Amino acid sequence: MKFGEIKKICCIGAGYVGTPTMSIFAYYCPKTEITVVDINKNRIEAWNSKDPEDFPIFEPGLENIILKCRNKNLFFTTEIEKSISEADMIFISVNTPTKKRGIGAGKASDLKWVEASARQIAEYAEGHTIVVEKSTLPVRTAETIEKILFASQKIENNKTNKTFSVLSNPEFLSEGRAIDDLQNPDRVLIGGSDQNAISSLSDLYNNWVPNEKIIRTNIWSSELSKLTANAFLAQRISSINSISAICEATGADIKQVSNAIGLDKRIGQEFLCSGPGFGGSCFQKDILNLVYLCNFYKLYDVANYWEGVIEINNWQKSRISKIVVNNLFGNISGKKIGILGFAFKANTNDTRESPSINICKDLLEEGAYLSIYDPKVENYKIKKDLDIRMKEFNKNEYYGNYEICKSISDAALGCDALVILTEWAEFSNIIWEKLFLRMRKPAWIFDCRICIDFNRAKEAGFNIWQIGKTHN
Ligand code: NAD
Ligand code: UGA
Repeated sequence: MKFGEIKKICCIGAGYVGTPTMSIFAYYCPKTEITVVDINKNRIEAWNSKDPEDFPIFEPGLENIILKCRNKNLFFTTEIEKSISEADMIFISVNTPTKKRGIGAGKASDLKWVEASARQIAEYAEGHTIVVEKSTLPVRTAETIEKILFASQKIENNKTNKTFSVLSNPEFLSEGRAIDDLQNPDRVLIGGSDQNAISSLSDLYNNWVPNEKIIRTNIWSSELSKLTANAFLAQRISSINSISAICEATGADIKQVSNAIGLDKRIGQEFLCSGPGFGGSCFQKDILNLVYLCNFYKLYDVANYWEGVIEINNWQKSRISKIVVNNLFGNISGKKIGILGFAFKANTNDTRESPSINICKDLLEEGAYLSIYDPKVENYKIKKDLDIRMKEFNKNEYYGNYEICKSISDAALGCDALVILTEWAEFSNIIWEKLFLRMRKPAWIFDCRICIDFNRAKEAGFNIWQIGKTHN
């Protein structure tokens, strides 16, 4: 039995959650050896690269922590079986995307990677192992994991050959500020019933998180709290985005409204920035998961309520595409439009569910030629995101095309409009007079993040549309 101090941790999944989380564990728990494993050999090679520029995920502050801990007590490897067999504690941090086909397609989470992880643990674990759900999972997934793990147990010399405890420890980090979120979490949530296992995990967190911030619940509450937190956050964005349209119609200003309501402590200031719709790998997936759960329990009205959050989000994205087309005389066929920002938010190279994908697709469908610039997103991701769409339309003679540019200035050359879709800091400091000279007139800016120097751009000669404002 290895109850008590955790000497070796294995994390299955070297992604946006697994790597930052384990890097922070390694940094604050120097006596614990942590191995992050992945089936993706390229990802592991990239994390092991001498040049941090090769790291597969851009996350401010992560690089420094990895360089401090790597090959001391933090290791990246594809040796999954060995790492599992040596570990006292295993985090499952694999992807759980929405199912694309079969029962529950389009709503339920695809749990094949979680199940595969559980089966690997069942096969290779030795002695007592604490298994921690780090991935976001539907309520009662722990039951499935337990069934797979317990089915692997055998009685040898009157003793069970291996034993398991399953905990839920959802992750609340947000990309672009993951290191700060992990270092100073609002709370750490641990769900489970095995008090020894809970103590072992909270002892690790206690190395940097005060005990009063570590909350303990039953396992189902923990799983549901994660889905609920994301649903509430996404709901706030859909709420403020719905109000942005009312502002544009009435002459109210979304910034002023956000500020006025946010000063009410019960509402709070954060997460009230109107934008082109929420993206990221999780909000939509987790709400769909919640909707699936509601339907499963025949709570149809509750399901409809949460589905509305996604409907408003889709509406916001298509609303923006229409505004661009309408302002460019209802026709963008053959016109060049610069897209500034492709990541789903600033400070990440992640494009999963980015509103830029939908908006670019809409503009391409209208026949536009797009020049796309993002300071961190790799070209292959943009191609992957857009070419899937392009294949659907390649028979359409009016379907547009795109190029990927290395600078804002390159992207602006010959454009009728610039559409700002990600709030990268450099977009706040653009020297608009210079860009104006490079563009065709009348030149437009569609600022979907309210992040530009408005007065400077106006003085330079631009027509400007900003979300939730009426100075257009
Ligand atoms: P990701 O796709 O970036 O990483 C998952 C990794 O798991 C991939 O590299 C994949 O190759 C690997 N993997 C899959 N099956 C495996 C197996 N059997 N063995 C070894 N490796 C395997 O995903 P992510 O963004 O890190 O998200 C992981 C989970 O965390 C999801 O459930 C997500 O909902 C949740 N989550 C994500 C965030 C976020 O900001 N991205 C925040 C909180 C929670
Ligand atoms: C979100 C949650 O914030 C995390 O707590 C959670 O752990 C994570 O999902 C997850 O489970 O994956 P993340 O998606 O990384 O984190 O980023 P957010 O900062 O939440 O932004 C999500 C989307 O909402 C982005 O497209 C962002 O631009 C948009 N957003 C956010 C707004 O449009 N307005 C806002 O005020 C805030």
